[in-house]
Amino acid sequence: MFEFRNGSLHAESVSLETIARQFGTPCYVYSRAALTAALAQFQSACGGRDALVCYAMKANSNLAILGLYARMGAGFDIVSGGELARVLAAGGDPRKVVFSGVGKSAAEMRYALENGILCFNVESASELARLAAVAATMGRRAPVSFRVNPDVDARTHPYISTGLKESKFGVEFSAALKLYRAATRMPQIEVAGIDCHIGSSLSDYAPLIEALDKMLGLVDALAAEGIQPRHLDLGGGLGIRYRDEAPPDVAAYMREVFARVGERKLKLLFEPGRNLVGNAGVLLTRIEYLKPGAARNFAVVDAAMNDLIRPALYEAWHEIVAVGNSDAPSAVYDVVGPVCESADFLGKERELAVAEGDLLAVMSAGAYAMCMSSNYNSRPRAAEVMVDGDSVHLIRERERTEALFALEHLLR
Ligand code: LLP
Repeated sequence: MFEFRNGSLHAESVSLETIARQFGTPCYVYSRAALTAALAQFQSACGGRDALVCYAMKANSNLAILGLYARMGAGFDIVSGGELARVLAAGGDPRKVVFSGVGKSAAEMRYALENGILCFNVESASELARLAAVAATMGRRAPVSFRVNPDVDARTHPYISTGLKESKFGVEFSAALKLYRAATRMPQIEVAGIDCHIGSSLSDYAPLIEALDKMLGLVDALAAEGIQPRHLDLGGGLGIRYRDEAPPDVAAYMREVFARVGERKLKLLFEPGRNLVGNAGVLLTRIEYLKPGAARNFAVVDAAMNDLIRPALYEAWHEIVAVGNSDAPSAVYDVVGPVCESADFLGKERELAVAEGDLLAVMSAGAYAMCMSSNYNSRPRAAEVMVDGDSVHLIRERERTEALFALEHLLR
């Protein structure tokens, strides 16, 4: 949905040059068609089976995107009370919400119970006890699944790998049976499902299948004791193409999953984040200065690590392209922002034919980009727009500088 037309990069039918003129830079630009196509692909790969796609909204929680997905029937994987508030504000159905995360507060549990969510993905015995206590004060039963750590190597970046024994996430595989037994004895707890998530940005789904097999073994062991989780939640993790990765084929993955689940009576839940939104957005930025040097040339742009932290944090690689045609000579640049940190780069050693004032697009910036942005260096956060055919909708205003310190107080 991001293509060059007449030498200029477009989002659907709108040129990014037009968007920059109208909304300024830095600016996140999303394609509605790309967002909906990705979810539709996932949903249709479920092929009429009993399944629910719960968008892992931590990847991008803009209300417009949530609203779009809610209308398409998606559920949501949340990790905080704030995310649940967003689901509700966007018109999402709380009965399709699963609540993940290793540190849920009592207040968050209460809020989620009040709103009747589908399931709490519980990550420890202490969390189970707290949830039971909160449910008891409300006279409710809390639907629960345990996030089991299948001890599978997701073979991805260590910061986003979560399925190994060493990880803070999930309950140990060997402890899961005991926890389920305990849960079935608690009147305030209802065993709803079983859950795992082994990591993010996987370019091969083999580790997910390895995890699935382990989980099915556990499902069968539970069944032998008369414990029947209604659903199996396989988490997220399917990667996308940032550079030259061959992203896993969603339909092939799902076929493999359903084949292995076989005749077992289990609803399947998936929690894709990046795979749905990652390639549906770009970060549009303007070159402030070109700064040639003896060792390196720098293109200093108006977006920075506060807008997109993935390169600084994970050494993540995002393609960077010039939006328009330029007669400028081609050179190799480090694309850097104005923030006072050497880690403030968006890309290193990129060959670009650009002049000062030109626009660049940082590609594949739909996931874990705007939602991880900060106000470091007192930089207001970028605007976000959604393109739909030939129209553009502002879906988040550029933050105003006064808003940055509106909650602060001077000492008298
Ligand atoms: N479910 C759970 C429980 C998760 O923790 C995550 C992501 C997902 C689903 C969605 O995973 P996905 O389908 O997007 O791979 N900030 C990092 C990624 C962190 C992922 C955290 N958990 C990045 O920028 O690459």
